[in-house]
Amino acid sequence: MPEHRRTLLVTSALPYANGSIHLGHLVEYIQTDIWVRFQKMRGHDCVYVCADDAHGTPIMLRAQHEGITPQALIERVAREHRADFADFLIGFDNYHSTHSEENRELSALIYQRLRDAGHIETATITQAYDPEEQMFLPDRFIKGECPRCGAADQYGDSCEVCGATYAPTELKNPVSAVSGATPVEKQSLHYFFRLADFEDSLRAWTGGGHLQPEVSNKLGEWFKEGLRNWDISRDAPYFGFEIPDAPGKYFYVWLDAPIGYLASFKHYCERSGKDFEAYLKEDSGTELYHFIGKDIIYFHALFWPAMLEGAGLRKPDAIFAHGFLTVNGQKMSKSRGTFIKARTYLDHLHPEYLRYYFAAKLDAGVGDIDLNLEDFTQRVNSDLVGKYVNIASRSANFIVKQFDGRLLGVDEFCADAEALERYVSDVEVHTKIIAEAYEAREFSQAMRKIMEIAAQINQYFDEQEPWKLAKDPAQKDRLHQVCSRILHGFHQLSVLLAPVLPGITRRVARELFGLARDFTWDDLDPQRFPRHLNPFKHLAQRIDSDKVQAMIDASKEDMSASPATPKSTGEAIAATISFADFAKVDLRVARIAKAEAVEGADKLLRLTLDLGGETRNVFAGIKSAYQPADLEGKLTVMVANLAPRKMRFGVSEGMVLAAGPGGEELYILEPHAGAQPGMRIQ
Ligand code: 2FM
Ligand code: ZN
Repeated sequence: MPEHRRTLLVTSALPYANGSIHLGHLVEYIQTDIWVRFQKMRGHDCVYVCADDAHGTPIMLRAQHEGITPQALIERVAREHRADFADFLIGFDNYHSTHSEENRELSALIYQRLRDAGHIETATITQAYDPEEQMFLPDRFIKGECPRCGAADQYGDSCEVCGATYAPTELKNPVSAVSGATPVEKQSLHYFFRLADFEDSLRAWTGGGHLQPEVSNKLGEWFKEGLRNWDISRDAPYFGFEIPDAPGKYFYVWLDAPIGYLASFKHYCERSGKDFEAYLKEDSGTELYHFIGKDIIYFHALFWPAMLEGAGLRKPDAIFAHGFLTVNGQKMSKSRGTFIKARTYLDHLHPEYLRYYFAAKLDAGVGDIDLNLEDFTQRVNSDLVGKYVNIASRSANFIVKQFDGRLLGVDEFCADAEALERYVSDVEVHTKIIAEAYEAREFSQAMRKIMEIAAQINQYFDEQEPWKLAKDPAQKDRLHQVCSRILHGFHQLSVLLAPVLPGITRRVARELFGLARDFTWDDLDPQRFPRHLNPFKHLAQRIDSDKVQAMIDASKEDMSASPATPKSTGEAIAATISFADFAKVDLRVARIAKAEAVEGADKLLRLTLDLGGETRNVFAGIKSAYQPADLEGKLTVMVANLAPRKMRFGVSEGMVLAAGPGGEELYILEPHAGAQPGMRIQ
């Protein structure tokens, strides 16, 4: 137990609930998890929470694209995320969702407090609007030609070809990436958070040692540019929380996302009996830390502390930002196969190898870290397997076979009192240096020091030549001392590595040393060294570079199989569904009784469909591909049980099936001769 037992709440950024976890994400979860495990091993009361970030337009559209509800999507993704994290040994105490009751209540509470204190104002703004989908379009959902270089197919905020940034209204020939319609401008009332109200306290807080120096500098620039009002509302349709006093308006996803940290913790407190309120008070004696990527500093170092302050809640003790991951020195790339999903990695390689490699690369700064796959293979093989595991695999058998598993204590294998004192003091010094490095998130320093110790132990093994001692009965005591000393070193290394390698070191603790628990930092006390050893069982094997190559190849395949976003052109095969799900879709043969252009809609035709006794009005986005007159009288296939959808031009009562990427290339489905209107497709 430490002299002062700290109470910490630690978070990692909440991953969006519409995509898989990849190695870029894992830098952060692994970094946080190592730090949290270190705190827990030291005996502190440390809780680590996270959640899926479940709201926002991309998630709503992704669900729509898959033909499922946003709830179904976020539940499926949450299952996938939880499994990925668990398999990488990320030890969350709680993993929740921002689409939760706790978060709804806390978001409403914080908003109401901000509003009542005068920090919310409204203003009417003009934004791009998709007239077909009847929704406002975020910048990323508008595409067009770059106003600077003319490159086609660029997003509404920046050009990937020339790097220009601009307003979506500047794009040439803009189209909605959702429907393909030309966006129009439309006004709407929005709610704004008056960030500038907090300028003085933010200046004090950001200069108060809560941020890394590089981050504080960046903030200086933002203060110079001036703190602008932050738009915290979005119009329906939106997947999120409706603003309590503003029907049809929703909290922007980034408003309720950081509140999700607290909501996840609240959910944990309800289960564990911890006092949630106590953590929210300024001067509560509890510590709050957020690990994040450097791309979301603005949200965490300005908006979030300002929101907390405005709502009368405590602010974080520190924000720890990290850099991005590159692979083989370059941005992760789908075509090169270096955009590697967590699951693809796990299909080929051991999770703790990546944990070790990241630890060996991570420091407390915001610089990018590179996963060089050759270096990764070489380092894991030489450090983890060649230096660390090798110590036990070479020496354990002598103790097990010749001494019945009995290990000598430190005062027995040190020659005299002076040697003992030197030994114990060395352990203390190393332990202190390594603990300080972990605490300061200088994991690469900690790993370097640990591997230095491992190298010394291996050198001692080579010098002492225990295999020779074992052959000479007169050297039996010496052999016992040498191997006990080596295994003491291995024990010490295992405790020091436990935050990074929780799975391997758990096996060392339980299987090799026969403890009924995992290691704690107190196990570094030489007097607590276990005195019995079980037979050594295989702990880790070298990485075969074929496995790395297989992972790259599989990543290339993953990407060709994942659906494009936000709108697929149809190449990718959607997720498998059950027959029962398929049977829910009622497909019918329909006769196109009438087809006509719709005034004001440049993509739509209004179709009157005859289902053999019943007629339906359907709007189909096939105007660029067909002359209305050519369609009349033709048979086609429609989804007859689709919920009616209100569009600007009327209600659409179903959907006609057509193939192709869109625009002129669209081909409606037509049954073979003999099919009659109203027949069910089965
Ligand atoms: O950038 C992201 O991936 C966000 N989903 C992170 C949210 S962190 C927190 F604020 F919730
Ligand atoms: Zn450009």
